[in-house]
Amino acid sequence: MAELSKKESAVDAKAYMAAAKEPALAKRMDDIVGTAFDNRILFEKIPDPEVIKFTIGSPAVQAIPHEDIAKIATDLLNNPENWLECLGYGPVEGKRELRESIAKELLAPKGVHVTADDILITVGGIGGLGMTVQACMNAGDVVLVENPTFIQAELIFDLYGIKQVGVDMDENGIIIEDLEAKIKKYNPKMLYTIPTFQNPSGRTLSRERREKIAQLAEQYDMFVLEDDPYRDIRFHGTDITPIKGFDKSGNVILINSFSKTFAPGLRLGYCVAEPRILQKIIDISIATNSHTPMLQQCILAEYFRRGLFANQVKRIADIYRPRCQALMDGIDKYFPEGTKRTTPEGGLFCWVTLPEGMDTEKLLMEARETPECKCAYITGEKSFVYQEGDKHITNCMRLAYGAIDEATIEAGCKRLGAFMTKKYEEMKNNK
Ligand SMILES: Cc1ncc(COP(=O)(O)O)c(C=O)c1O
Repeated sequence: MAELSKKESAVDAKAYMAAAKEPALAKRMDDIVGTAFDNRILFEKIPDPEVIKFTIGSPAVQAIPHEDIAKIATDLLNNPENWLECLGYGPVEGKRELRESIAKELLAPKGVHVTADDILITVGGIGGLGMTVQACMNAGDVVLVENPTFIQAELIFDLYGIKQVGVDMDENGIIIEDLEAKIKKYNPKMLYTIPTFQNPSGRTLSRERREKIAQLAEQYDMFVLEDDPYRDIRFHGTDITPIKGFDKSGNVILINSFSKTFAPGLRLGYCVAEPRILQKIIDISIATNSHTPMLQQCILAEYFRRGLFANQVKRIADIYRPRCQALMDGIDKYFPEGTKRTTPEGGLFCWVTLPEGMDTEKLLMEARETPECKCAYITGEKSFVYQEGDKHITNCMRLAYGAIDEATIEAGCKRLGAFMTKKYEEMKNNK
């Protein structure tokens, strides 16, 4: 090829720069526009202090053990034997002592018998979720999800081009008959489930169904991704063995988070899987984040070592029990006739189904802005996964009770209940 003159190459370079000025973003970014927007709402800070925020999925301020964390961090960073471990690179799979504490204190008592080698420490629960999806799923694969499901998980599935199909639930979680029918129809690669105090519904999958799901995973060669961040926040009833505890095939992958039981900003979670799967997830961690930050891991490991974790989960259950009760009482007392709600035995969320025909999405901004109401909630419509031709479900909402005290919950239910009752009356009169 003839050499370009200086002038020609300058023109060429300019044209190249102009063309390169706005390189196209990945196509997947177009594909997730809707779900990304819905997820931003979850993180939205509502500036008006008068608005009662039933939206907040984070723990109560009092539930974060900040004094213990501050003390432990100071002790570790001031100790010549500890500070370098906190601030240097660490092992990809996570701090061994922390993984041992998780195996011994959090998993074995619940019927999941694994060792530290079966556990990877992740960046929050969402870190484990994202990496597991990357390791197990191809674009075009089908994942079955509970209907409704966690909308941040929907975003991850959308990001990787995975087709989601919803499975019906009742008060005891996933309905097995519907699950099996959909396994046969869609040949899914994975079932994604939040079995305990589900986000958004607050429902819990029964023991029998957990056992059956583990069996189906084996029978149909399907992964089960069990996402269980709320299980340790139980304020009524007795613990139920995780699906992983019934897993004979190794197809069940368990992920969990310390965001609700310790501190969400520390971004700590973990993943439990068979070696053949865990090793691949570890490879993804090497490629994408090297490892979970060490300072946080060292703090949490020390928190376990000092024997503080068991009391922490008891303490936070005591905070949430009366809040949940206040919310359920408030819904029963003030919401329109015909409203249904779930009865959570733990976790942070209650799911409300208003009478047929109501539209929580359409009413949201008015509910937030009307002076006599000023309440915010998460609308239910986007938490459902629809197949072509499905009618959208518009009359549901998620109310979170974790971050607001009982008196505010009662006041909020009164205001929101009156607002929704008025809207319901208007709707009936317009029919
Ligand atoms: C079901 C579920 N999975 C995962 C997460 C994410 O947890 P983390 O904040 O630890 O990433 C949440 C948080 O709300 C959740 O509800």
